[in-house]
Amino acid sequence: MSNNASPQKSTDLHIGAAVPGCQKKDPILVADHIKKTFGGLTAVDVEHLEVPKNAITALIGPNGAGKTTLFNLLTGFDTPDTGTWSLMGNSLSGVPSFKVAKLGQVRTFQLTKALGLLTVLENMKLGAKDQKGENLLTALVPAIWRKQDKEIEVKALELLSRFKLDAKKDDFAASLSGGQRKLLEMARALMTDPVLVMLDEPMAGVNPALTQSLLDHVLDLKKQGMTVLFVEHDMHMVRHIADWVVVMAEGKIVAEGPPDTVMKEQAVIDAYLGSHQDTDLGEVTGRIKIIKDGGQA
Ligand SMILES: Nc1ncnc2c1ncn2[C@@H]1O[C@H](COP(=O)(O)OP(=O)(O)O)[C@@H](O)[C@H]1O
Ligand SMILES: [Mg+2]
Repeated sequence: MSNNASPQKSTDLHIGAAVPGCQKKDPILVADHIKKTFGGLTAVDVEHLEVPKNAITALIGPNGAGKTTLFNLLTGFDTPDTGTWSLMGNSLSGVPSFKVAKLGQVRTFQLTKALGLLTVLENMKLGAKDQKGENLLTALVPAIWRKQDKEIEVKALELLSRFKLDAKKDDFAASLSGGQRKLLEMARALMTDPVLVMLDEPMAGVNPALTQSLLDHVLDLKKQGMTVLFVEHDMHMVRHIADWVVVMAEGKIVAEGPPDTVMKEQAVIDAYLGSHQDTDLGEVTGRIKIIKDGGQA
């Protein structure tokens, strides 16, 4: 477990100028022409996106920018009108979500999807891949699935202990706090040994007592060789842990770059000012201040 005041940042990730859609030296995910409309509304219109491997990329932008929709599309939970994308060179276009997870790309949800009436341990086991019991032939040989069930349980318990949820393994997920549910969701996502972990607002609704722990877990994923793409509104956290920032507004990518520079860009300030005018002004004022001050909030 890391407990870094200043985590080691990955730099030199891109090729050429840091502009929307810019190439990365070692991209793990590459997406092209991803478009999704709902009725007359264009929720996502991303021409090109490359996510750098073994780095932490933050996807930011005002509410309604299309961040969650983009996550849904890239993970097979929704289908785009147009577009292609690939993970480590393997096309994921049209691949359903459970297969996407098996191929190494997992995501968590803005609103957690832990199953409340299952125990914490049962939730973890559901996250496992390649359950041999699901296969008709091996299902006829109980010894095979019993052995595998045992392996899955060992792995689940290891992860629960890493996320300090082992004492809660037999509790219903419904009894966990919001922050603990976020931890459970992250732990469950790791049951499939992913290469790319996509977190949709991992800090939203999390008690301050648990935020440092969540943040450390995100940093740990990178240390273990994984790639992280996360949506986050807390600019302080973005500056602290992100190696790269992608900014969306009205479905499009409007800026990209290292956190220090990208948050000072006019397009980013405009995106937040433009879309937050009639929403939560207190929060917006805070955010704009953070952006203008370069994150010294
Ligand atoms: N299932 C849906 N049906 C209709 N409109 C949707 C649906 N999902 C998202 N939208 C709209 O698409 C836009 C982008 O939403 P979303 O991806 O949730 O944004 P973000 O996560 O950046 O806040 C918003 O205008 C939202 O209202
Ligand atoms: Mg969202």
